Amino acid sequence: MDDCIVIKFGGGLITDKSTMCTPNNEVIDSLVNVVADCLEHNLRVIVVHGAGSFGHLRAKYWKLNQGYLPDYDFAPQDDCQTQEEAVSLVRKEMLTLNQIVLDAFSKSGIDTYKLPPHEWARNTGSDFEGDIIHLFQQNNLVGITFGDVVDCDEGVFGILSGDDLVVRICQDIPNVKRLIFAVKGVDGILKRPPELADESDLIKRWSPSIEYSGVHNSEIDVTGGIGLKAIRGSEVAAGGVDVFIINGEEPQRLLDACKGISTRGTQIFAD
Ligand code: IPE
Repeated sequence: MDDCIVIKFGGGLITDKSTMCTPNNEVIDSLVNVVADCLEHNLRVIVVHGAGSFGHLRAKYWKLNQGYLPDYDFAPQDDCQTQEEAVSLVRKEMLTLNQIVLDAFSKSGIDTYKLPPHEWARNTGSDFEGDIIHLFQQNNLVGITFGDVVDCDEGVFGILSGDDLVVRICQDIPNVKRLIFAVKGVDGILKRPPELADESDLIKRWSPSIEYSGVHNSEIDVTGGIGLKAIRGSEVAAGGVDVFIINGEEPQRLLDACKGISTRGTQIFAD
């Protein structure tokens, strides 16, 4: 069986986070090229992508991460009056972004299959319900899923982050060797905030006992920023998978990380 790698395309990386529903096609194409190269090297690849400006802005406004809030007094938007409408609009936005990603793969001649979580997953956090092994069994194609609004036992609905999805994929799929978080604007986990950091502030080996500067744009993100990746990454590393956070605008670094070649970035350890 071929070695499998899981790549999370950060939502902030593949979209322009400052404008509603704007993809960054150039970055998406460069990530697809990295995946193409991995396939040529006989790696099996599973891709999980985030939401960026396709899901976070509306999900944040309607507090979808907090579940159904019948008593909260939301001011209606022109195109959306209720939380229920927001749930279906965010799901639609995610399907639109997913289609853009799928199209980029098919343009490069790569066969994929898509797995929208609202169709098969329930509850949030990395212990969500979902039959990963069965769903991701076409190991000759690239399986693609994404952060989404899912139905929940408590709170009616909630947001299942791509960072939670990758944990379970790495745990449940046999033969996952590496997990790579491709992120925007930083080379990995930094000791100081990115605007103050220089080259020497990159933490090359991180485990939960090491202090760092979390980059979490809570104005926009409804999920967890780099802190969630770090924590989820250490859960995955505990299972023997090599986990890295890599600057997604540096394709050669990404490719090296995917192939297991040492490169600039942060490797995450369990402890
Ligand atoms: C968020 O998914 C999903 C929605 C807001 C609908 P992620 O947590 O994986 O997204 P990014 O990578 O932070 O954009």
